[in-house]
Amino acid sequence: MKIIILKTAEEIGVEAAKIFTDEVKNNPSCVLGLATGATPIPTYKNIQKTFNEGGITFKDVKTYNLDEYCDLPKADKNSYYTFMHEQLFNGLDILEENVHFLDGNTTDCEAECKRYDDEINNAGGIDIQLLGIGNNAHIGFNEPADEFTTGSFKVKLTDSTIEANKIYFDENPMPRYALTMGIKQIMSAKKVVLIATGPKKAEAVRNMIEGPVTAQVPASILQEHNDVVIFLDEDAASLLKK
Ligand code: F6R
Repeated sequence: MKIIILKTAEEIGVEAAKIFTDEVKNNPSCVLGLATGATPIPTYKNIQKTFNEGGITFKDVKTYNLDEYCDLPKADKNSYYTFMHEQLFNGLDILEENVHFLDGNTTDCEAECKRYDDEINNAGGIDIQLLGIGNNAHIGFNEPADEFTTGSFKVKLTDSTIEANKIYFDENPMPRYALTMGIKQIMSAKKVVLIATGPKKAEAVRNMIEGPVTAQVPASILQEHNDVVIFLDEDAASLLKK
């Protein structure tokens, strides 16, 4: 694990965005795995900034998002589909047919998850996967569990995740279920970039980096990946011993 500690979330956004834009410049038809939430917003802002400066195109880039809520219309302001368009895609020349999401409104979750995993594999797998981390050390929506998950699946969100994300749901109640890529799929990305900022992430970060590899701390599996970059601000790094 390569761990980079920077002062602010803004600085992390600049550095993390550079990893993604360098990849797109070197490999214009790369496959990117993307995350939602507050953490990647500065990264997405800086990817857009580099795009606006010119000399880079996303028209052959394919993206696969980690997760999507169940039973939330795609056009809802809190769907991850809406989030990604507002925070990133609308500011790039990426093609709509190249951005991919799990369909949280499917009536057949098993078939939908298989479709998604097959599509990722047929695209050649993910070149770089961006991750945030939950306060309970979830990645994607892989909540603490008895075993590491494999492919995409339907998950019941934990109280910790509902507590952290319900602030965004001012009118309607937050969904209790989501579809998410599984741990094995995330681990098969060629490179992983995880960002954690703020004091609420400090314990999860310590457990991810310095604790044992256990499905109770889903992000700890990243200790076994051979190309992981972890960006932390000083708050998120505050409980690390080394
Ligand atoms: C979102 C996702 C989640 C978030 C995590 C942190 O697509 O996969 O694992 O990365 O819940 O969320 P924020 O960044 O809002 O703290």
